[in-house]
Amino acid sequence: IPVEPADLVIIGGTGDLARRKILPALFRRFCAGQFGTESRVIGVSRTEMDGKEYRKLTAEAIAEFSEHEGCDMGRLDDFLEMLHYVTLDAKGTTGWKALAKLVKSERIKVFYFSVGPGLFGDLAERLHKYGMADEQCRIVVEKPFGRDLKSAKELNRVLAQHFDETQIYRIDHYLGKETVQNLMAVRFGNMLFEPLWNSQYVDHIQITVAEEVGVGTRGGYYDRSGAMRDMVQNHMMQLLCLIAMEPPAKFDPHAVRDEKLKVIRALDPVKPDNIVRGQYEGNGKRPGYRNQVENRDSTTETFVAIKAHVSNWRWAGTPFYLRTGKRLKERASEIAVVFKDAPHSIFDEDAGRHRNILTIKLQPNEGIELGVTIKEPGPGGMRLVDVPLDMTFAEVLGPDDADFPDAYERLIMDVIRGNQTLFMRGDEVEAAWAWTDPVIEVWRDSRELPIAYATGSSGPDDALMLMHRDGRRWREIK
Ligand code: BG6
Repeated sequence: IPVEPADLVIIGGTGDLARRKILPALFRRFCAGQFGTESRVIGVSRTEMDGKEYRKLTAEAIAEFSEHEGCDMGRLDDFLEMLHYVTLDAKGTTGWKALAKLVKSERIKVFYFSVGPGLFGDLAERLHKYGMADEQCRIVVEKPFGRDLKSAKELNRVLAQHFDETQIYRIDHYLGKETVQNLMAVRFGNMLFEPLWNSQYVDHIQITVAEEVGVGTRGGYYDRSGAMRDMVQNHMMQLLCLIAMEPPAKFDPHAVRDEKLKVIRALDPVKPDNIVRGQYEGNGKRPGYRNQVENRDSTTETFVAIKAHVSNWRWAGTPFYLRTGKRLKERASEIAVVFKDAPHSIFDEDAGRHRNILTIKLQPNEGIELGVTIKEPGPGGMRLVDVPLDMTFAEVLGPDDADFPDAYERLIMDVIRGNQTLFMRGDEVEAAWAWTDPVIEVWRDSRELPIAYATGSSGPDDALMLMHRDGRRWREIK
């Protein structure tokens, strides 16, 4: 369904995010017929350039970063026609009048702040001053939303001076991932799982977001952040919320975000022996983290494993194990809900015992798998085996339907539609920082270094111990 015509202003329009994600996402939605030629895309940045040069930059970005097949490159010129460019000084006066003249007051206006949070205040103030911050205006802000509770509160305060919460879209691109949304469909669209979705039946939950890549060229940013700020405070906690939350009364922004917030508030503070942090080393072929960020003494973590507890009626006693890291064995992200053993086995000891595991695979090979126990086929007596009921989306839906839009495509269209369900509310972000801050502070004040782990491994052995000592084990990263 096409969205209403809109003016979409990308502030930081020549930057990395715009080129890699935002512009290709818009082009793909354009090809899909959802984002029509009546809309306009206005690139804005400090760089002096004209519309023609911006169209060239965009064409190059799309050629380099647009992965999806089914996108007709023959339509690129039509898309480029929708593009405009304004040179603008976020902290000064240059360009603001020109921008105000260009955007149409009666239309939906989206201002995508694809710049560091240090500029959010200046931008918000000027959008207001130059008359663009009317009711039809929405702003999109990227993570990191602050670097701790204090700075996040300050950002929320600054934005709230000029915008209502209903106009602020805080992006966490994990919420736009197809399987992440499917998690809600599976939980709340089926009768099968929800009655079992509690500590009485669930032994534990594992959430893994493993990356094969290292920090690449983002060392400057990353060395000041680390995995806790970069991945845990946002993506991992959002996944945990969706798994643990109570059924919202409705699939709407208020109800969903209220329930997520309750989960974050129910999280126990993390005890030091329930957390492991690591940092990757190089191998002959690839440099180690410290070399990459050119900081020999860096204590920034590139891996974190946490055992978390959601202290509420539903989850008391069921641990949530989270782990994320860079330069691990494979790129593999999944959530595994591991059910308890059946209370009594009617079979002989040597039949074996198996557990049901529901695995939600985020990437790659998006899909959902339920491990069930059956009899091993053949005349060998009653021996039990585990087989997967497997819904790999590409197989079930066919390759065309499983060619999912990138998270950014979905989320940007939601902004134009005015749907905040998949965006983080201000209080949610603050509550997440309130949980991660104490951990980060302990690390900052301690002399302990992160544990070195080998490139291509599953992370430090201590992370394995985090589960072994509870008689459990991580699923293999594959
Ligand atoms: C970003 C982080 O938010 O998410 C990156 O800043 C990380 O460090 C990325 O690599 C992972 O996203 P995805 O979609 O590739 O899993």
